[in-house]
Amino acid sequence: MSRLSKSLIAELDPASPVAESFRVLRTAIRHKKGKAAAGGLVLMVASSKPQEGKTAMLSNLAVTYAQDGKKVVAIDGNLRQPSLHEAFGIRGDKGLVQAIKSSVSLKDAVSPSGYPHLDVLPAGGQPSNPSELLGSAAMAGLLDELKRTYDVVLLDSPATLDYTDAGLLAEISDGVMLVVKRGRTKREWAQKAKERLEQAGAGMLGIVLNK
Ligand SMILES: Nc1ncnc2c1ncn2[C@@H]1O[C@H](COP(=O)(O)OP(=O)(O)OP(=O)(O)O)[C@@H](O)[C@H]1O
Ligand SMILES: [Mg+2]
Repeated sequence: MSRLSKSLIAELDPASPVAESFRVLRTAIRHKKGKAAAGGLVLMVASSKPQEGKTAMLSNLAVTYAQDGKKVVAIDGNLRQPSLHEAFGIRGDKGLVQAIKSSVSLKDAVSPSGYPHLDVLPAGGQPSNPSELLGSAAMAGLLDELKRTYDVVLLDSPATLDYTDAGLLAEISDGVMLVVKRGRTKREWAQKAKERLEQAGAGMLGIVLNK
């Protein structure tokens, strides 16, 4: 049924141990966050440096929420190195960038993921001014609109320490999960990324150890 890339979303069977670990994570987020206010919850996935597993984590979390019957949209907020569309095997040429610029309606920018209850808003390319777009009033407006339609809005992001983008996204998120990759992420990188996200006003939900 799924067109998802097997390399990113390893286990799709809800009975599998991997799916169960994502359910545990989801429950931990709910407890940490408390009862969500009206409208959907915006959760951002961040990491200090590239290639630590943000997109893989976000994709799996999105599928797990959707399997629980939640209406979910996964947004590729990584305009530096977009890859969420590849994780879901969908087209990536129309999405967030065009919706922010209003050249495409939000409805037309969002694609079905191939999973029930789960939609994807791909990046839509690599613009020359990513920070400007992500920090715009139009971006905040889009998120508000999505929160009215979806229970859970998941935001992928580029490396927190390499770009200002993650701080901008943290400002408009309800909570941030920091992914740390075993054997790769240095302790001081994670510490610095956490500080930077907190300075942006992010509610840190926790640190997820990948691998
Ligand atoms: N737990 C894991 N087990 C095996 N492979 C993994 C795991 N997590 C991530 N990977 C692989 O590592 C690579 C990087 O993962 P991913 O693209 O999710 O990282 P990222 O933090 O989103 O990177 P970027 O900063 O470039 O967006 C991918 O090839 C992915 O398939
Ligand atoms: Mg990524």
